Amino acid sequence: MEFRHLGRSGLMVSEISYGNWLTHGSQVEEDAAKLCVQAALDEGITTFDTADVYAGTKAEEVLGRALKGVRRESLEIFTKVYWPTGKGRNDRGLSRKHITESIHASLRRLQTDYVDLYQAHRFDAETPLEETLKTFDDLVRQGKVLYVGVSEWSAPQIAQALKIADEMGFDRLVSNQPQYSMLWRVIESEIVPLCEREGVGQIVWSPIAQGVLTGKYLPGQAAPEGSRATDQAGGAGMIARFMKDDVLAKVQELKPIAADLGLSMAQLAVAWVLQNPNVSSAIVGASRPEQVRDNVKAAGVKLDAEVLKRIDDVLGSLVERDPAKTVSPPKRP
Ligand SMILES: NC(=O)c1ccc[n+]([C@@H]2O[C@H](COP(=O)([O-])OP(=O)(O)OC[C@H]3O[C@@H](n4cnc5c(N)ncnc54)[C@H](OP(=O)(O)O)[C@@H]3O)[C@@H](O)[C@H]2O)c1
Repeated sequence: MEFRHLGRSGLMVSEISYGNWLTHGSQVEEDAAKLCVQAALDEGITTFDTADVYAGTKAEEVLGRALKGVRRESLEIFTKVYWPTGKGRNDRGLSRKHITESIHASLRRLQTDYVDLYQAHRFDAETPLEETLKTFDDLVRQGKVLYVGVSEWSAPQIAQALKIADEMGFDRLVSNQPQYSMLWRVIESEIVPLCEREGVGQIVWSPIAQGVLTGKYLPGQAAPEGSRATDQAGGAGMIARFMKDDVLAKVQELKPIAADLGLSMAQLAVAWVLQNPNVSSAIVGASRPEQVRDNVKAAGVKLDAEVLKRIDDVLGSLVERDPAKTVSPPKRP
C-alpha cells in the first residue's frame, strides 16, 4: 500500500480506501462484510469510509463490529451526515441539531470515541453555512471529529465554506468526496483547480464505476448473477447510468490496454484516478474479499501519457465532463 496526505492536512490515508455503501447491511451478509474488511486490513488499507445513512444506519454498525479489536490509532475512519436517518423533519440536513445528534449516533454504532473525518454528504440549502461550519468546528474542539470535509459540493460552495472558515477562524475543510472515474470526470474543470490551490484533497467514489469498468458487464447480455446490477433492492438503480450498450462496448475495448500493462481492468480503473495528484484516496467497494485483493494492486501504479491517451481515444465522447453535474438537492430530501 502507498499513503498520501489528506489534502494539505497532516493526516496520512491509504491511497486506496474501503467503503461499504450498498454492501454492508444490505447486499452482503455480515460474514462476507467482515471478510472484506479483513482482506482490506491484510492488504494494508487503513482508511475506511461509511455514512450514517448507508443501509439505513446498519452499515456503520457492521463496520464497527468488523473493526473491533483493531488498534484504533492504526485506522482512519470516515463517516458522513446529511441524508435522512429517520422520519422526523430534523433527521436530515446540516443543522446544528441534526449534525450533533447524528455524530453521537455514528460514534455509538462505530464503537469509537472519534471519527478521523466527518463529511457533509451534500450541501444543505436550508441551513446557513455558518451554522454548519460552526457546528463542525465545535465537534473538532470536542475531539469527536478530527478533520472535516464535504461530499459532492460544487466549486462555489467549497469556496464559500473556505472563505467563511478563514473569516471566522473555523477549522478548514480538508477534503471533498466526489464521484470520479475514467467515465465521470466532472470535477476536473472547476473543483480540482480550486482544491489544489486551497489544499483540499479528493477522496473519490466509484472509481470502478460501480463495477462497470471491470468489463464484467457485456453489451446485450444479462448481468452476472450476484453482481450489483442484479441487486434490485438498491444497487441496480444506482448503476443504471452506466449500464448502456454503447458504454459497455467501449469498456470492452479497454481490455487490451490493461492486458498490455499486466493489470486487471479494476486495477487500471483505480490506477487511473490515482494519477490525479489532487486525489488523496480512491474508495473502492467490494462484495467479496478477492475483489479487495485485486483492486489494491493499483496502489503505486504509474500510467504514462501514452496509456492515458489510449484510454481517452477509446472512451471519446462517452466521458461526462460537465461541472454542472455536481448538484445537491435544492431542498432537503
Ligand atoms: N459520497 C457519496 O455520495 C458516495 C456515493 C457512492 C459511494 N461512495 C463511497 O465510495 C465507496 C465506493 O463506491 P462503489 O462501491 O460504487 O465503488 P466501486 O469500487 O466503483 O464499485 C464497487 C463494486 O464494483 C464491483 N467490483 C469491485 N471490484 C471488483 C473486481 N475486482 N472485480 C469485479 N467486480 C468488482 C463490486 O460489486 P458487485 O460484486 O456487486 O458487482 C463492488 O461492490 C462507497 O462504499 C462509499 O464509501 C460515496
